[in-house]
Amino acid sequence: MKNSAARFSTQLFLPTLPREPVFPSTRYQGSKLKIADWIWENIRDLHFEIALDAFGGTGAVSHLLKRQSKTVFYNDVLVFNYLIGLALIENHRVTLTESDIAWLLDTHTQVRYQDFIQQTFADIFFTDEENRWLDHVVGNIRALDDKYKQALAYFALFQACIAKRPYNLFHRRNLYLRTAEVERTFGNKTTWDTPFEEHFRNYIAEANAGVFDNGKPNVATQSDVFEIEGEFDLVYVDPPYVSADGVGVDYLDFYHFLEGIADYEHWADRIDHRLKHKGLIHSRSVWCDKNKIHDAFDRLFAKFRNSILVVSYRSNGIPSVGELTFLLQKYKGSVLEAERTDYQYVLSRKASQEVLLIAR
Ligand SMILES: C[S@@+](CC[C@H](N)C(=O)[O-])C[C@H]1O[C@@H](n2cnc3c(N)ncnc32)[C@H](O)[C@@H]1O
Repeated sequence: MKNSAARFSTQLFLPTLPREPVFPSTRYQGSKLKIADWIWENIRDLHFEIALDAFGGTGAVSHLLKRQSKTVFYNDVLVFNYLIGLALIENHRVTLTESDIAWLLDTHTQVRYQDFIQQTFADIFFTDEENRWLDHVVGNIRALDDKYKQALAYFALFQACIAKRPYNLFHRRNLYLRTAEVERTFGNKTTWDTPFEEHFRNYIAEANAGVFDNGKPNVATQSDVFEIEGEFDLVYVDPPYVSADGVGVDYLDFYHFLEGIADYEHWADRIDHRLKHKGLIHSRSVWCDKNKIHDAFDRLFAKFRNSILVVSYRSNGIPSVGELTFLLQKYKGSVLEAERTDYQYVLSRKASQEVLLIAR
């Protein structure tokens, strides 16, 4: 009895160690999660307090800057990405509890469930049963009234959808790649066939572990980069990439399904029904057009000429690194280039390195 009382009192006085926030895993195309530490090594000595991550994507770089106690403005043009920024950058303390998760997976009389995904996307990306699960959980997420809990749940849902897709994309109608009884030389059938609920729970746990307060008023916005307002000490630029043969990454085409979930109410009006994969109607972005991208970079650098500019790039894109440096020199006195040697790429035929341009 005496012993157990002593044990109890020791436990009471043990200090709680602060938890180290960890950015969740992601399979999003172009995420800088794996090179975030290398980026930090190259910018840590710059004097800045307020940073804009103008093409935020997964928020991996924003989260890095948040961990370094900067005031972070996260931005992305796509709504589904903005929700990720809301969940992990702007949000300081809200997490999803076990009872929230149970509620999200349950059925409620007050929720008006729809069957839009089941009706529209049969045999395209997921099985009928999975589409039913998606419509149901989207109905529940939309009924949440705390915007941060809602954003965390969307985050977990988006990552689950990405994990269950061949190539982790939505650019082709190719459910058959998952379901056909064939010998496979690629892909991860176990991950594809893991039930949505299991992925969803895992990503909620990862998202919860990424939530923390750095004591700064961080903000997430959803805006075209040219519409962003405000003054920033440093602007981090990581736009879609146009390869040497002129092919640009069209993020809305790759991830239209997630953008549709994020705008479920208007999704039906936005679908281009001529497309087999039911993508969204949209015009071609300047960031995917090899004939317009030089001008886009020029306008962007002019817009943020009063900030330190940090540009993530690959060594064999359009424009070339030399052309980008030339454009930066129009507005900034000093342009430094850091190149990261990635041995995997060096050995591949299309050798291409991660580059960071730092302009002051
Ligand atoms: C290369 S990714 C950024 C990846 C990000 N740094 C990360 O680590 O996840 C480019 C991002 O730019 C966004 N984007 C594309 N056009 C944009 C625009 N006009 N304004 C703002 N963001 C845009 C895309 O939605 C995409 O998430």
